[in-house]
Amino acid sequence: MGKDVIIALDFESKERTMQFLDRFAGQEKLPFVKIGMELYYAEGPDIVRELKARGHRIFLDLKLHDIPNTVKKAMAVLSRLDVDMLNLHAAGTKAMMEAALEGVTRPDGSRPLVIAVTQLTSTSQERMENDLLIREPIDQVVLHYAKCAADAGLDGIVCSPLEAGKVHQVCGQNFVTVTPGVRFADGEIGDQVRVTTPEKAKEIGSDYIVVGRPVTQAADPVAAYQRCLAEFVG
Ligand code: C5P
Repeated sequence: MGKDVIIALDFESKERTMQFLDRFAGQEKLPFVKIGMELYYAEGPDIVRELKARGHRIFLDLKLHDIPNTVKKAMAVLSRLDVDMLNLHAAGTKAMMEAALEGVTRPDGSRPLVIAVTQLTSTSQERMENDLLIREPIDQVVLHYAKCAADAGLDGIVCSPLEAGKVHQVCGQNFVTVTPGVRFADGEIGDQVRVTTPEKAKEIGSDYIVVGRPVTQAADPVAAYQRCLAEFVG
């Protein structure tokens, strides 16, 4: 699995996004970027087309979760955007994940990577027990969801870098781990709780790190991105 750094474009408009990305113009390697709900809902599919046309690889982070037929049809539409990575909630069940794969696969058999969200990192053990009535330890739940995603034929999951090694042990080395919660050793943590450095994420076995504020809020975002690449990819 080719390791890479994905920059989370957590901006509210195309204007802000382009201002940020313009700094990378002329760089030898254009960053792999993540478009989440905020930017996608603000600007629609055109923002994806535009960034694709500029030459970025794209992770479209829309976290689909609905009945299998609806997800299958939504995935078929998203497949036309020709992004590199898409995701959905494993909580939608294996039937939903299988339907998603059917929907996203093009007539020639090609498709983007499809990865699952397990338990959100904002869900604590207590909330999971009280609100969702799931009584198992949360790390077991995450691994179980990862196994369900692998059984359904998905390519990988989003997880904490601290869990990436275990996920690979259980689901195989080729099962992709995409890990947010990355901070430089000398940087601000912000609202993330379980964080690790790009270097450590590499050591534990993450395949892709998703980095937002350490790059987007840096005084020199290009230098911060290069530092991530140097520490994570080497
Ligand atoms: O700014 P920061 O580096 O914390 O951004 C991390 C990105 O990864 C954000 O877009 C956030 O929504 C996303 N993310 C996360 N934890 C998850 C799933 C996604 O931080 N479990």
